[in-house]
Amino acid sequence: MTNPLPAWSALQTHYEQIRNEQMRDWFAPANDPAPTRAERYTYAGGGIAADFSKNRINDTTLKLLVQLAREAGVEQRRDAMFAGEVVNPTEGRAALHTALRATEPNAPFHAQVLAEKAKMAKFADAVRSGAWTGYTGKRIRHVVNIGIGGSDLGPKMVVHALKHLETPELDSHFVSNVDGADLWRVIEDIDPEETLAIIVSKTFTTLETMTNARSMRDWFVKAGCPEDALAKHFVGVSANPAEVVKFGIAKENVFEMWDWVGGRYSLWSAVGLSIMIAIGPQQFDELLAGAHDMDEHFRTAPLEKNLPVLLGMIGIWYRNFFGSQSYLVAPYSEALHYLPSYLQQLEMESNGKQARLDGKFVDYATSAITWGEPGTNGQHAFFQMLHQGTTIVPIDFIAVLTPEHPLADHHPKLLANCFAQSEAMMLGRTEEEAKKIAGPDKPELVPHIMFPGNRPTTTLLVDALTARSLGALIALYEHKVLVQASVWNINPFDQWGVELGKILGKVVEADLTAASGDVKAHDSSTSALIARARAALKR
Ligand code: F6P
Repeated sequence: MTNPLPAWSALQTHYEQIRNEQMRDWFAPANDPAPTRAERYTYAGGGIAADFSKNRINDTTLKLLVQLAREAGVEQRRDAMFAGEVVNPTEGRAALHTALRATEPNAPFHAQVLAEKAKMAKFADAVRSGAWTGYTGKRIRHVVNIGIGGSDLGPKMVVHALKHLETPELDSHFVSNVDGADLWRVIEDIDPEETLAIIVSKTFTTLETMTNARSMRDWFVKAGCPEDALAKHFVGVSANPAEVVKFGIAKENVFEMWDWVGGRYSLWSAVGLSIMIAIGPQQFDELLAGAHDMDEHFRTAPLEKNLPVLLGMIGIWYRNFFGSQSYLVAPYSEALHYLPSYLQQLEMESNGKQARLDGKFVDYATSAITWGEPGTNGQHAFFQMLHQGTTIVPIDFIAVLTPEHPLADHHPKLLANCFAQSEAMMLGRTEEEAKKIAGPDKPELVPHIMFPGNRPTTTLLVDALTARSLGALIALYEHKVLVQASVWNINPFDQWGVELGKILGKVVEADLTAASGDVKAHDSSTSALIARARAALKR
């Protein structure tokens, strides 16, 4: 697989030179007597420290990766994005999520952004204080965010992560799946008189969200809420306000986002209304401030010390030179439970592309598969394969140094596991070491207790899980995606790949729900599935 940039071929040669080198040798006192490796490969930005030292990199690797970033025009793409240029050419749009957290008065759309944020804050304060009531005068106790993809994953992830900052007066719920079980499991346990639904959809046409929104409206009406009082229970967030009003939401209850904000980059906008209600306008500002810290770091730090650049380029190193298929995100933080699923959309919907910006197809790999699970749970499930399996999966460990809960004695155990895993991945266990452990009586055990080691990990350290540090962490990954997209010469801001399934889904649904008639217009497999389901649905 090739890329015409000179640094790309230099990296291919370099890969051949170091592919068999062992990280444990690089760390060994004989080669690193001071030792300095950890220090040399640890960088900080936006309040986050990143230890890249347990990666299969040396000074030459980093030099060439940074050279590749330069040759690929990472800096130009970054600056064009911040300046509001049309960096999403297939949809003719800018991608200005950074403007949502900018503090500079001359930032693009600044007045508009501030005005919408003020409207959100007024509403959030009213709900939080109990001034906003339901149709019977009861205060709101349940906020149900109805949205999917970017209109769900970001807010859900942040509200869960910052639960320790959530007002005790309210519970937040997130409903995304068109499977009625998702909505039902939430509404069967809550009181409509105390419930506020936030319908979030950039387009306000998404099948799942509109289906859930309609069912939610029926639920309110069946419970006795008069039609003309629904405004007390429904607000909408969209870039298509006319459609929101058509749905029946009062004009004054519509919060706007804009077409220059991509869905998966939108939690900083009114899409984050559920976040603001949960943690309050001040903490929401802290979240934005953290993201802005990372924006500034990304914009101004030299590429050699720039966290999003290094994280992105090291990802490229494994994806395009080692041929890694996937990478794992393992937050050693239960609060960050939903970070991996949020990152799945961010990374794979952004960079899972085959067409370059010039319309030609790539002949190199693009987005790796992103997956993950909080530690330590993953250790007792799939880490076996990471240690001794035949596939190398690079890992991002994320550790939060101080706990956000009072059970302080758990924390050393949690952190110890995180750091021990990265050590074990790097060191492995040699045959000699395995023989010593197996002892003379059990030589047959040796191959089973050997670990190849040399498995790459990055450890991201956050001092404490605050709204600010979380904002910086999310922005780090947003910018990492742009860095990789620049090298792959693809557009990270469109998502044409989700369209085909949506179009065919409508046809299949019509066939499934048709009262009668043959199901013929599909391949034999799809037709047979429809026929079986149709029979079951009639039962
Ligand atoms: O189908 C994919 C997608 O368009 C995502 O990009 C988006 O985040 C999600 O659907 C939801 O879209 P909307 O906010 O318009 O309902």
